Amino acid sequence: MAMTADGKIATANRALSSFGSPRDHEHLLTLRATADAVMSGARTVNLNKINLGPGPEKFRRARLRNGLAEFNLRIIVSGRGALNPHAEIFQHRFEPLKRGRGRESAAPSCGADDSQVANSPIIILTTQRAATAQLKKLRALADEVKVCGKTEINFRAALRWLRAHRGVKRLLCEGGAELNAALFRAGLVDELHLTICPHIFGGRAAPTIAEGRGFAKLANAARLQLKSARRVGAEMFLVFARA
Ligand SMILES: NC(=O)c1ccc[n+]([C@@H]2O[C@H](COP(=O)([O-])OP(=O)(O)OC[C@H]3O[C@@H](n4cnc5c(N)ncnc54)[C@H](OP(=O)(O)O)[C@@H]3O)[C@@H](O)[C@H]2O)c1
Repeated sequence: MAMTADGKIATANRALSSFGSPRDHEHLLTLRATADAVMSGARTVNLNKINLGPGPEKFRRARLRNGLAEFNLRIIVSGRGALNPHAEIFQHRFEPLKRGRGRESAAPSCGADDSQVANSPIIILTTQRAATAQLKKLRALADEVKVCGKTEINFRAALRWLRAHRGVKRLLCEGGAELNAALFRAGLVDELHLTICPHIFGGRAAPTIAEGRGFAKLANAARLQLKSARRVGAEMFLVFARA
């Protein structure tokens, strides 16, 4: 997560959330190259021009060197199943390296043929709140839609399913605030990569790295220990591990 010096991850109107340096972006892609799957919440996907893919060729080669599939799984979390079909993430498919130059291609995302499944599949995690008609729309957008929870995602069950059915051992969550909070609450965050950027956004409604219901007692709060802190230019790159 990229965070301003006053602890915000986006402006109050959520219009601006990309404010890290090119170095921070490189860090994000390097992290993606260590994960079987990359996950984001519905609002982040709906609002941003992001594709959650592995990025340029050098990162895909890094994935292969790391013993991972060339393309990561892309996971979107939406309890209501209300995703914008025109969001950037649904506009991209990727060509694997073995087929040529490994360039990113913009192509329709619907209809999962073999090559698409072999590339960077999209999985949507949703709940029973998503109506049947909504589920049908989601299935046209994604390679797989998994209902895992009544009103909220049961992330423990979802991760077990991802491990058993999709071989996901390491998952990178890229926010936003509500999704992060749910993972902290479920005790599922092993590591937090936080980049502190030299900006102040202010704004009471501007999100921090974890929103949701929050913890009421210190005893219940997610506890972390600082693993590393590195200054690069005007930014601080922090890594925390679960205490
Ligand atoms: N600075 C950064 O590094 C960074 C990174 C990522 C995002 N952001 C910014 O953060 C903001 C978005 O954060 P956000 O907190 O508003 O939204 P979010 O976490 O991206 O998405 C929230 C949505 O995800 C679904 N969701 C999350 N947890 C769930 C659970 N436990 N069970 C079921 N569904 C769940 C719900 O979808 P439904 O409503 O469909 O049920 C919920 O409305 C945006 O401005 C984005 O650009 C910043």
